[in-house]
Amino acid sequence: MTKIALGVSSSISIYKACEIVRRFQEKKFKVQVIMTKNATQFISPLLFSALSGQEVVVDPFEKALSKTIAHVSLAQEISLLCVAPATANIIGKFSSGVADDFLSTFFQTVKCPVLIAPAMNEAMYFHHPTQTNIQRLKAMGVKFVEPEEGYLACQEEGWGRLAAPEKIVEEGLKLIKISKSLKGKSVLITAGPTREYLDPVRFVSNRSSGKMGYELAAEGLSRGAEVILVSGPTQIMPPVDAELRKVQTAEEMEKEVQACFPRVDVVIMAAAVSDFRFPNVSSQKIKKRELKSVIEFVSTPDILGKLSQKKAGQVLVGFAAETDNILKNAKEKMREKHLDLMVANDVKQRDIGFDSDYNRVSIIDSHGKVLKTEKMSKREISQIIFDKIEGLVGK
Ligand code: PMT
Repeated sequence: MTKIALGVSSSISIYKACEIVRRFQEKKFKVQVIMTKNATQFISPLLFSALSGQEVVVDPFEKALSKTIAHVSLAQEISLLCVAPATANIIGKFSSGVADDFLSTFFQTVKCPVLIAPAMNEAMYFHHPTQTNIQRLKAMGVKFVEPEEGYLACQEEGWGRLAAPEKIVEEGLKLIKISKSLKGKSVLITAGPTREYLDPVRFVSNRSSGKMGYELAAEGLSRGAEVILVSGPTQIMPPVDAELRKVQTAEEMEKEVQACFPRVDVVIMAAAVSDFRFPNVSSQKIKKRELKSVIEFVSTPDILGKLSQKKAGQVLVGFAAETDNILKNAKEKMREKHLDLMVANDVKQRDIGFDSDYNRVSIIDSHGKVLKTEKMSKREISQIIFDKIEGLVGK
């Protein structure tokens, strides 16, 4: 029987959590309920224990529980953490890394999908810190079932009512399915810039931070894929479960990508590969007075273009970094490189694209159909890209 964890925090809508337990059970899931201390003021843990057939977890230091349930081992057993109802307080703790009770500590240990269903007064829901916390969690890959509009416990009409239990369970089941959707598949992702050296201290590079590629890697992992991340120099943390291969130059990147290509199902080239390099790399720092006479460029290999000639069923996804005529240029590159998908982004805008946490992209498929996204976190953009890729893998 598959196990899920249901986190319950202190909202008046807590009574609906009983129905959520029941509905997951109807779908043949074992439900481990975790309550915050404040939630136990509304409903006794006994009720959830009776419903779920499992001892409810409240406090990490309870003696009886430490024998049977540690937050780490439980995290490995579950295929979903659903938090419903979720208060502004627990959302804030998750978002800022506070771990002062079982549920908030547990959140930091889970690798499975997390679904949060907020429930609170309308003013609290739209309060700036709450919305910021929700956006931050979405950028980490956490999914939300938005609250509904209606009559609230504070005897006002407004937004903030917990979504219907059937909707929460339906979203939870979808997430469990997505978390296994690329199991057994291998995805190669390139990220970051390349550096083309002139001598030991000087190089040509670009503004890529690696964020787009690293978020794609995190999303691929969350769908059960094996992820190889070929990365140029970056200042950010790679996802822990990715196989990281660090490179500096376009030629090194090509070597790694070519070596892995036969064993992967998907390649996503999010790296900003330098188009030029210096023909000779001096082993010593070139004197300033000689610089002008030695600066000359030759082309780097077109990594993606070369892969398309060797392709044996792999899905090839490119990124087009454009400043003008975005769709036209991206479609041209897509044709030249024989890609299955092209993700075009406007790198002239300062708030998206290069070195931003956000992006706004147009995803072009092989029939020329274009899907335009809103400005979103790079993780949310990655989710949309992977939804598209999943439709192509194995075809
Ligand atoms: O890293 P971030 O700060 O998060 O920024 C993300 C990003 C803007 C770098 C990313 O979204 C992006 O657009 N990546 C592609 C950048 C790029 O090199 O675009 P291009 O239009 O020059 O190249 C088209 C495609 O060919 C790309 O997939 C590129 O990886 C690939 N290419 C390019 C040159 C080359 N020699 N070999 C290649 O394979």
